[in-house]
Amino acid sequence: MTTPWGEPVLARFPEDPRDRLRAWDASDEYLLRYLDRERVPLSGTVVVLGDRWGALVTALAAHRPTQITDSWLGQEATRANLARNGVGPGTVRLLTTQDDPPERIDMLLVRVPKSLALLEDQLLRLAPSVHEGTVVVGTGMVKEIHTSTLRLFERILGPTRTSLAEKKARLIFCTPDPGLERPANPWPYRYTLPDGIGVVSGRTVVNHAGVFCADRLDIGTRFFLKHLPAVRDGARVVDLGCGNGVVGTAMALADPQTEVLFVDESFQAVASAQDTYRANGVPGHAEFRVGDGLAGVAADSVDLVLNNPPFHSHQATTDTTARRMFTDARRTLRPGGELWVIGNRHLGYHVRLRRLFGNSEVVASDPKFVVLRAVKRGAGPASG
Ligand SMILES: C[S@@+](CC[C@H](N)C(=O)[O-])C[C@H]1O[C@@H](n2cnc3c(N)ncnc32)[C@H](O)[C@@H]1O
Repeated sequence: MTTPWGEPVLARFPEDPRDRLRAWDASDEYLLRYLDRERVPLSGTVVVLGDRWGALVTALAAHRPTQITDSWLGQEATRANLARNGVGPGTVRLLTTQDDPPERIDMLLVRVPKSLALLEDQLLRLAPSVHEGTVVVGTGMVKEIHTSTLRLFERILGPTRTSLAEKKARLIFCTPDPGLERPANPWPYRYTLPDGIGVVSGRTVVNHAGVFCADRLDIGTRFFLKHLPAVRDGARVVDLGCGNGVVGTAMALADPQTEVLFVDESFQAVASAQDTYRANGVPGHAEFRVGDGLAGVAADSVDLVLNNPPFHSHQATTDTTARRMFTDARRTLRPGGELWVIGNRHLGYHVRLRRLFGNSEVVASDPKFVVLRAVKRGAGPASG
């Protein structure tokens, strides 16, 4: 990345030679150029919200910024990028969207997130730490900044305007108004599940801002819930990419002897899964983990993996994560264990599963979705 202060070398996490996506974009570079050109004083507590892969905090490391992110992968990328560029541990404070924000913020830099809800929640959480003199600058690609984005800054922090576009990126300038009457934070948002989806019908789901389908049940998830398998007592089940945890909670409700591991790379998602599970008073045993897929889960230790894989990584459409999740599932399943996947028909997951497991069967389908089952049969084919 080119910055006024040098050219840090940056990568996403995990690094994948087949993935040519960069770890920064024109909006990161525009913000850094602006800070240098206008000689913006980077003093006091500098907070960077939504920095995707750590590009901004790496470039600004000399000012000992605090990064706030919802993404475990983004945080790991930041750690690796800081080390790659010789920034010592402890120079940048790494916080998650679930942590308490710094008490006072003198400069707030916002890389506009994909989720407007996450931006709303985070600005509301940070607003009490912002004061009259806080410099607030946002950045994003033109296609990511909408009137609704600007209205959020205006409603929560104060008067807001935008810059001219440069290389399809735009800056947001906001002048904090301490007298502003801020709206109450609507997050986390709870709703009651509809009828007709088995044990979770009429149950409560808790969604922290930014989680997948936070305001209603996703139609794919709904289809999955109608076709979940029955498991033996004491089975070890993983809700892989758990989002709000509705799938794993359904398994635990169906059989309290089931041990469920909820995993997601989003801190907001794992907090939601934990809250959804607790809100339903499930008696069984569960574990909640923020991390990358099934990394850290022992080989041959799981009976069932349930997965509604992501097909977006930030703005990019990709099946890289789904592929990694399937490979991981095969490794962690015990022989005879099963991976159940829901996906849009057109994604063609059955091809990938057949290649990996040597089998793939359609459990249920409708015009839009398909639920697939792949069984781990001893040491079969294993090319990702
Ligand atoms: C399509 S959503 C499914 C959410 C939930 N299971 C449902 O059906 O409503 C995919 C989830 O995968 C998570 N995810 C993306 N990459 C991941 C990774 N590398 N490791 C774990 N979870 C990941 C996303 O944060 C998201 O919550």
